[in-house]
Order: sequence, then structure tokens, then C-alpha cells
Amino acid sequence: MNKVNLTIDGRQVTVSADSTVLEAARKLKIKIPTLCYLKDINAIGACRMCLVEVKGARSLQASCVLPVEEGMEIKTNSPLVRTTRRTVLELILSNHNRECTLCVRNSHCELQTLAMEIGVREISFPGELPERPVDQQSPALLRDGSKCILCRRCVALCHQVQSVGVIQATERGFQTTIEPVFGKSLNEVACIFCGQCIHACPVAALQEKDERDKVWKALADPDLHVLVQTAPAVRVA
Ligand code: FES
Repeated sequence: MNKVNLTIDGRQVTVSADSTVLEAARKLKIKIPTLCYLKDINAIGACRMCLVEVKGARSLQASCVLPVEEGMEIKTNSPLVRTTRRTVLELILSNHNRECTLCVRNSHCELQTLAMEIGVREISFPGELPERPVDQQSPALLRDGSKCILCRRCVALCHQVQSVGVIQATERGFQTTIEPVFGKSLNEVACIFCGQCIHACPVAALQEKDERDKVWKALADPDLHVLVQTAPAVRVA
């Protein structure tokens, strides 16, 4: 594999030519915040938390989807990057149910952790919150759309890893939501209750429930049983 040399925050690094800038930075143990990125599973450049400055580029670039190039010069912590990163985080938080102290993921939430690390204490963009109701119909998990940050990590897990594909992004812009397919509730689609989407969720948009009797009853469905047998179990770090 060809190698590429680049400079990140003044430090030289050599990586394989198919790497991204985020991977190169991680090789140097330089931390770039991410939310939507899941290694090998979800690299879609959606959240923009991983923006970096590239010498010669006209705008900041999402490092998780930015291929390395020979001689690149990257800044991950310049004043422009820090200011923009903070604005991006505030925008994400402005669309998020911020009742953190009442949340099951309080103190285990990637969004909350980032807000604390970056020092966001208030939101400059108060406004309307999208209406995304709670779906409690599934016996195994609860969906709280008011907490969803639209990172699509759950969608990638469900489709690409588990090969189940019962959730998807629908609508556009402010109306965008992550929903079960065909406009159904989770108990009406072929969810196999693997729970991988919960592990993938950086916030508390997906939460565990424990109604075992109902889960076993649903798993007795012969069509669903085939899916359970074929879906590989994975652990998301
Ligand atoms: Fe790169 Fe979300 S982590 S855009």
C-alpha cells in the first residue's frame, strides 16, 4: 500500500494512502471530536464535529471523510476550528432535548461529554424543537426522537452490520427523523431486538426496555426467527 506524508498540528505523520485525516490524527494521538463517525461502519460527514483546517482549502473540512494527500498541512485546534466546532455543537444541542439530569444517559452521553469538554454552558440559538414523539411500542427498546441528533449510527448498524434494516432517515431538513421503515412502529417491523442500535447511539435516543415475556413471544414468530439466526452479533466500542 502506498504511503502518504502529511503534517498535523506541526507534527509529521506517515500513513497508508487510503487513510482519512481523522485516522492520521489518531495515529499521532491527536484528539478530534466526533459524533456521527463509527470506524468501518459510519463515515458520512454528517455532524461536522470533526472539522479541521486544511492549508490552501477555502473552508473547513470534515476529517472523518477527508482522504489524506501528500504534503497536506492540517490544523485541528486553531481559533477558527475551535470557534466553529463550538457553534456546530451549539446547533446540535439546540435541536436536542436538554433535560440531561433526568436522562438515563446522564454522565454517559457522548454529546454531554463533548459539551463539557468544549465548555458549552448555554445555547446561542434557542428556538423551536422538532416534534418527535417517544415510541414505546417495542418490548425491547424505546425510541425518544427528542434526543436524536441524526448521526445515523443506528441506521448504519441495523443495515450494514446486522443486515436487518428496519430503521431509516426520513424527511429532510428540520423535519428529518430516524424512523422504523414504512412509517411503522418498531413493534410492527422485523426488529430482532439485538440492541446494537442502542450501543451505537451516542445519546439516549434509543434506550433499553425489559419486557422479556413480550420479547420471547415476538421471537417465536417464525419469520423473525430466521432473521435472528442469520444476524451476526457485534460489539460496538
Ligand atoms: Fe466527522 Fe461527524 S464525525 S462529520
